[in-house]
Amino acid sequence: MKVITTIAEMRKLRSKQAGSVGLVPTMGYLHEGHLELVRRALLENLTVIVSIFVNPTQFAPEEDFTSYPHDPERDLALLEKERVDLVFMPGAQEMYPEGSSSWVEVEKVTERLEGDFRPGHFRGVATVVAKLFNITQPHRAYFGQKDAQQLAVIRKMVSDLNMNLEVVAVPTVREPDGLALSSRNTYLSPKERKAALVLWKSLSLAQELWQKGERSAAPIRQEMTSLIESEPLAKIDYVSIADPETLEELEEIDRPALVSMAVKIGKTRLIDNITLGE
Ligand code: PAJ
Repeated sequence: MKVITTIAEMRKLRSKQAGSVGLVPTMGYLHEGHLELVRRALLENLTVIVSIFVNPTQFAPEEDFTSYPHDPERDLALLEKERVDLVFMPGAQEMYPEGSSSWVEVEKVTERLEGDFRPGHFRGVATVVAKLFNITQPHRAYFGQKDAQQLAVIRKMVSDLNMNLEVVAVPTVREPDGLALSSRNTYLSPKERKAALVLWKSLSLAQELWQKGERSAAPIRQEMTSLIESEPLAKIDYVSIADPETLEELEEIDRPALVSMAVKIGKTRLIDNITLGE
């Protein structure tokens, strides 16, 4: 496994790769969710590149950029064990040298849900992912369903800007009790960890209501909201039932529907989702 920190070296090594290349972009502090993306990429490509870069431009000033968890040694050991070929680990100066002033702005699909609560977030995500695509020139890039809106934004960017690669979505990996794996779960105290289960409980409730035949979005949203509000440590940012591509809210669930939410548990903001009727 080669660890690369400069764009020049990444390009040089990339130009020597024959056959298909898969890219897994991450911000590090890897868990089984990330590793699932890596394993899928290894199955489908001759060479796998994992990028580890905590991208400053996708964090708002009051967000957790400076405290974002990191453990590069552990990350590298995990990737070595999976038999990853190349790890791209640039510094912030390498990715955003002084004077950087170009951005990728995906409209509409970025304007709701996470975009409402994290202005500028998807501009940072789209820009860094476009840069990573340009630097590594992958045939396929792997993203988790866990960040469903991010996935929709990347798909739209790739399609609108004619980027020549396939975006592969990987299902969310969960703890045995249902909590979606996230690097931010490490922020949770034991009490908060218990409270965080309310996200999965409310998604399960939505699934159950849908299975019983409920097709109006409003009562499902309402029951989910009541359940989350019954947890004293939880504070809802949004509960949404929307079209998975446009993220427009649905009234009737007459096609696949993305049920998603952002909930603060204490100071930690968690997101999760499922798709009904896939
Ligand atoms: P990060 O949060 O490190 O996530 C990297 C990838 O892992 C994303 O595609 C995310 O959806 C996926 N992932 C996270 N938790 C998962 C889980 N429990 N199951 C399956 N996949 C999971 O997302 C980012 O980094 C950044 O925004 C990035 C795309 C790297 C751009 O900076």
